Amino acid sequence: YGLSQSGQQPVTTTTTSAAPGGSLTILYGSQTGNAKGAAAVIQKQAQALGLPVTLVSMADYKPKQLKKESHLLVVVSTYGEGEPPESAVDLFEQLKKGKIGKLEGLKFAVLGLGDSSYEFFCQTGKDFDGFFAKAGADRIHDLASLDVDYQEAAKAWGEQAVKAIATTLSAGGAASAATSLAGAVQSAVGHSQYHKENPFPARLSLNQKVTGRDSTKDIRHIEINLEESGITYQPGDALGIWFDNDAALVDEVLALTGLAGDEATAQGPLRAALTRHFELTRLHGGFITGLADISGNAALKDLAGDKAQVNALVASAQVVDVLKRFPAKLGAEQLVSLLRPLTPRLYSIASAQSEVEEEVHLTVGVVRYPQADGTVRSGGASSYLADRLAEEAEVRVFVEHNDNFRLPASPDTPVIMVGPGTGIAPFRAFMQEREAQGAEGKNWLFFGNPHFTQDFLYQVEWQRYVKSGLLSKISLAFSRDQGHKIYVQDRLREAGLELYQWLEAGAHFYVCGDANHMAKDVQQALLDVIAEHGHKSREEAEEYLSELRRAKRYQRDVY
Ligand code: 2AM
Repeated sequence: YGLSQSGQQPVTTTTTSAAPGGSLTILYGSQTGNAKGAAAVIQKQAQALGLPVTLVSMADYKPKQLKKESHLLVVVSTYGEGEPPESAVDLFEQLKKGKIGKLEGLKFAVLGLGDSSYEFFCQTGKDFDGFFAKAGADRIHDLASLDVDYQEAAKAWGEQAVKAIATTLSAGGAASAATSLAGAVQSAVGHSQYHKENPFPARLSLNQKVTGRDSTKDIRHIEINLEESGITYQPGDALGIWFDNDAALVDEVLALTGLAGDEATAQGPLRAALTRHFELTRLHGGFITGLADISGNAALKDLAGDKAQVNALVASAQVVDVLKRFPAKLGAEQLVSLLRPLTPRLYSIASAQSEVEEEVHLTVGVVRYPQADGTVRSGGASSYLADRLAEEAEVRVFVEHNDNFRLPASPDTPVIMVGPGTGIAPFRAFMQEREAQGAEGKNWLFFGNPHFTQDFLYQVEWQRYVKSGLLSKISLAFSRDQGHKIYVQDRLREAGLELYQWLEAGAHFYVCGDANHMAKDVQQALLDVIAEHGHKSREEAEEYLSELRRAKRYQRDVY
């Protein structure tokens, strides 16, 4: 956990070329920390067998190095519509395009992590597995595709995989040296005692709606007090929030299944378990197929057999909506067996400690799904913060470090930030940090939202930064203030020449916010700008952008 810090060398504690008899490299591609954590567990398992092992993030790995590997374990998660995490994009693209060439003689196995409430479950793991097989490498252990409750299965997979590797790897003197060195490095990089499984009980100090009365959105500025936690974070990091489900929602689920709430489960009395330990607001396909099996309901069975219908339902409904449509009397254990464990939600941090000290700020869009029957369902964590948590009440939090979204090392380097909607959050942190640093580098913000009067998040702060000169430029895209939509990517194109000049002058380019539409359109606009103003072909523009990414000058925090 927390192995490589931004800008530092990755923890390549063994020699980079394969030792005689070979060595094991564990490559992880992580966004929210799960793949990184699982990879660290496997590293320990390998060390326990005395294997020479190197743990490295894909973000810090030179793809050509693959040619020199003898044994490789890949741990990678999947995001959005079957896409790799940011830190894995470069390696992924190079393998996909066949740029690495043949990898005969390499022994490999892939552990894929994902979330079965998404259609392209564990796609990136499957893709990596396919790339290596296609390059002629030997699969030494089966591909695994694990859901959000992956921990035990990942451990079991790791045990098997490192055993398979041990049989083909001769452990020797080099092995023990490497192992002890890796251990030393790991313990030297300490982090807060608080983490996902041991969150800090913080206090909510402010919950303020920052969109106007007539806005289509409900966005909250949230402040949380971290006093006495010793927790530290950097701009670019995320805050994990553990939340409780809405009591009314729990009651509805109990009523629909004919349960009282005081039944015993392995996680305690049912009502408490449903409140704190199980996911009710994010539906997954397994709930639908499982409920179809248990209830024997013919209509539900038909639906469960149709993948497109299951995906559509998963995208638009919650557990309670399925139970309403397909009533089923269930036992407490039966109900619980259909549900997935609740997972905390991560929010990009909107403050810098140089400015707010022992506080952490978030910009939270409250998720609401209106249903056909007129009721409105809400997102689990966002409605907890916005509607259910009283000021000064306890909220369980932890910091998830994100070394793939960091300000430039030099305060003189120019920065371009694209953050429409709640994507603005980390850039508020960036500007607080740069102000505190007295940074001389230029800063250019692109922000968009529906209406100027309703949705200009943190308007007063940006105006102050423009006035003080900290913010050199601000480009705004209020999409619905005129007859046709104007988006941030339109502003990027309009300012193409200047944008390209900034890039040529060494600017870092950051994008935060919606992954499926905005970030893709922004990337396209960026490529167009590079092609037009750099007089480049499509391919040359793509190569230019890949170079930026490798140099960590193109960083995205998209969700
Ligand atoms: P819209 O809702 O009016 O279409 C933040 O959500 C802002 O991003 C809103 O102004 C929203 O506009 C806009 N937005 C929607 N789709 C987008 C896309 N594909 N690219 C960029 N911005 C988008």
